[in-house]
Amino acid sequence: MPTPSDVDVWPLLGVKIQVSDVELAPVDDRTALDLGRLAAGGIHGNFLPFQSPWTRGSDVEVARNVFRYHSGLRQEMRPDKWSLEFAARLDHTLIGVQSLTSENFRTTRSAESGSWLGQAWQGKGIGTLNRIAILTLAFEGLRADEVTTSAWADNAASNAVTRKLGYEPNGEERLDREGRVTVQKRFRMTREMWESRGPDLRPHVLLEGVEALRAWLEID
Ligand SMILES: CC(C)(COP(=O)(O)OP(=O)(O)OC[C@H]1O[C@@H](n2cnc3c(N)ncnc32)[C@H](O)[C@@H]1OP(=O)(O)O)[C@@H](O)C(=O)NCCC(=O)NCCS
Repeated sequence: MPTPSDVDVWPLLGVKIQVSDVELAPVDDRTALDLGRLAAGGIHGNFLPFQSPWTRGSDVEVARNVFRYHSGLRQEMRPDKWSLEFAARLDHTLIGVQSLTSENFRTTRSAESGSWLGQAWQGKGIGTLNRIAILTLAFEGLRADEVTTSAWADNAASNAVTRKLGYEPNGEERLDREGRVTVQKRFRMTREMWESRGPDLRPHVLLEGVEALRAWLEID
């Protein structure tokens, strides 16, 4: 019997998504430490774009939050509950995270995306490319029927990406954000909407390692 490779042990490690000059690759421990430093360098101003305040605190606290979060998700991975966490790199420079999460995907065929970029990399069209990359993985790689996303109503950048890609509204809820009631908007994109998107939202996306990922997650 040949010795199992890294990808045999953890098939997510074989997945790569490339769109334009942005590459998404799975977050390993080394990368989670580097992502922690990137996050500590700043993701947002005073406004908190996330549901939990993991970007608050000292640099080392923020970096630890990032490392702990990614390590924890890895322990939880199983076919009925997974979180695929990808580090985004632009020309090999680490710039942020793009994720796809689901519970009971084999039944629901529904997954939720999430993302962040270091502040220096925002507003340059990269968030849009990352979202297209993860939608391609979901619809074409994993055969999703819908992908959802959500953001605070005042998260102009995230909602602009969502609007630009043509999601439909999927409700909203009033939640606590650091002690204040804030509206969170939900959106969804169906397979039909994905397939009917315009030519400007169809950059070439290269997907690698998806068959082994599907087999591991027991997705038909
Ligand atoms: C949300 C985020 C991933 C979007 O990525 P991005 O690279 O900044 O977005 P893009 O440059 O691709 O912009 C996409 C659209 O949003 C618009 N946009 C970007 N920032 C904006 C802002 N602050 N206000 C209004 N519109 C904005 C752009 O003009 C663009 O629209 P256009 O192409 O029609 O001009 C990124 O801004 C980010 O990491 N923000 C902080 C963390 C966060 O909010 N994560 C999401 C939590 S739900």
